[in-house]
Amino acid sequence: MSWKDLEKKIAAYEAKGVEVPTENLVKTPEQLEGIRKACALNTAVLDEVEKHIKAGMTTEDINTIVYDYTTAHGGIPAPLNYEGFPKSVCTSVNEEVCHGIPSRDVVLKSGDIVNVDATTIYHGYYGDASRMFMIGRVTPTRKDLVGVTRECMRRGIAAAKGWGRVGDIGAVIASFARKHGYSVVREFGGHGVGLDMHEEPFVCHIARKNTGMLLVPGMVITVEPMINMGKPDLYIDADNNWTAITEDGKASAQWENTILITEGEPEILSY
Ligand code: MF3
Ligand code: CO
Ligand code: CO
Repeated sequence: MSWKDLEKKIAAYEAKGVEVPTENLVKTPEQLEGIRKACALNTAVLDEVEKHIKAGMTTEDINTIVYDYTTAHGGIPAPLNYEGFPKSVCTSVNEEVCHGIPSRDVVLKSGDIVNVDATTIYHGYYGDASRMFMIGRVTPTRKDLVGVTRECMRRGIAAAKGWGRVGDIGAVIASFARKHGYSVVREFGGHGVGLDMHEEPFVCHIARKNTGMLLVPGMVITVEPMINMGKPDLYIDADNNWTAITEDGKASAQWENTILITEGEPEILSY
């Protein structure tokens, strides 16, 4: 459906006091085609990382893989120089929640869990996704955290239906995480994406059902829960002003996909 067809239906929600998306948040078929291609390249980048990641490698090596693969295929790594971010990808190890900066000094070792978060610009469009990698022999408790976080993402995605609300996503994520004794990061969340790296709405991973912006078919958002083994509290690394780290030093995990809101189940664009 085009914006013109959707407008009346959206207006009816707005009249009831529901927060509704602006026109630029509902993508045109042409924009969707571009976003699909950006997501496809972003997926290939993560596949390339997955192929090579192993103990003994540094997070700088991951950065090199991402930069080289992305640019060789006509893309641009979106994080590079984004608000001063110095690298092409975020690599967040163990107690790092997000925005870990690749470094020659960070050597991956057996037992580590690492999130690799790639965002790719392709012909002006954006795709954004992240995966967890378990290096060598990982403890069962860390494996459980990674698995539950992935399931949080899956459930959050399944809850993101056209004519539902953004809060529906965070409601199912928080309830599943807490059932497993974990906590949910509130300072960072999902977001609209496609024409820019971060668009509206903010997708809080703790929310109540039937609250927040209306989800309209054609919107593209990310679902990217950050789930902590211990407390939800975090601080920002004072040395780089980017990396979020758990206050209690316990592990944190994250999975992310870019999805298209439809009339039914959302379509995952970043597979
Ligand atoms: N990929 C991140 C996200 O999911 C954004 C990274 S911002 C950067 O929203 F500057 F750290 F790259
Ligand atoms: Co991301
Ligand atoms: Co994102």
